Amino acid sequence: MTILDYDTVALNEEKNALVIIDQTKLPYSIEILELTDLKEIWDAIYLLKVRGAPAIGVTAAIAIYLEARKIAMEANDFDGFYKKFVEAKEYLDSSRPTAVNLSWALNRMDDVVKKNKDKNVSEIIDILHAEAIEIREEDIRVCKAIGEYGLSLVKPGDGLLTHCNAGQLATVKYGTATAPMYLGHERGYNFRIFADETRPLLQGARLTAFELQSAGMDVTLICDNMSNMVMRNGWVNAIFVGCDRVAANGDVANKIGTSIVATVAKRYNIPFYVCAPTSTIDMNTPTGNEIKIEERKPEEVTEMWYKNRMAPDDVKVFNPAFDVTDNDLVTGIITEYGIAKAPYNESLKEIFAKKQNK
Ligand code: MRU
Repeated sequence: MTILDYDTVALNEEKNALVIIDQTKLPYSIEILELTDLKEIWDAIYLLKVRGAPAIGVTAAIAIYLEARKIAMEANDFDGFYKKFVEAKEYLDSSRPTAVNLSWALNRMDDVVKKNKDKNVSEIIDILHAEAIEIREEDIRVCKAIGEYGLSLVKPGDGLLTHCNAGQLATVKYGTATAPMYLGHERGYNFRIFADETRPLLQGARLTAFELQSAGMDVTLICDNMSNMVMRNGWVNAIFVGCDRVAANGDVANKIGTSIVATVAKRYNIPFYVCAPTSTIDMNTPTGNEIKIEERKPEEVTEMWYKNRMAPDDVKVFNPAFDVTDNDLVTGIITEYGIAKAPYNESLKEIFAKKQNK
């Protein structure tokens, strides 16, 4: 049994619990958490026990369903139910600001409540249950489709580089950036994969290197400041990264350091692909400038992972969790409905038109 045999995020129907792997404990300890309390779930998202944009979305869908069940037990009518439902939704939505999948999933759950407000509350709970399950199942289909499109862009034996963890641990299955890698692996592509360590929280080292190695792939871990060297050496044919929010103009917010990778890739003419489920594309945000970037505590930079603190006491620290890659550095945005190319203002609209007509 490997890490890939565990559910990243699931619903335990018997216990009415959200089930996640505590990703802060990986790779040396696989701890499964069963959470039922809204505050505990909020903390799990904030503390990155469950992380990665799609996994956060699925978590939010399951969490709001579980909370709605509890609210329904005490509510006398729809208005009473809905007031508490919206409070819980807003609370969950405040756990992390950058990944749009969080509000996307919560709004989708909210929409089904509003659409069915004439039904009785227990029927609404059944509908919320079905929607949460569908959001989870959909994530698997979406990642697989992204994987197929991504695989069409590379060839056997290629060197691929990725940043952070947009792997199975960030989704339900396959990952986004790793989906072409997993599908290629199943088909004997023998990729050589470079995983950036991803300071300061080491998602590349602790999660990506771990899951790809567990799958039996050829993965080489590098520090973030080594990516120029492997690209200059000609070892990288394509880059696949995930994202937390894509703006309507194709600017991309992803884990801090992504924009450095994209800038260096441009220097060496290496295609830089962003793997983005449509749930991560935010057409209401015009450009990357409007994306709220989460800032996290200084200790992640000064102390975490070290036996002793490695920075002077009281030194000023800037610790943004994400950065924005300008759209002109992005070769293509790979969605479940095809690959969008510049100009993104138009191509992303076409992707959504395809989704609408499906
Ligand atoms: O802070 P994290 O670990 O949640 O950041 C995750 C990333 O930046 C991922 O690349 C992104 O969410 C895409 S996951 C498919």
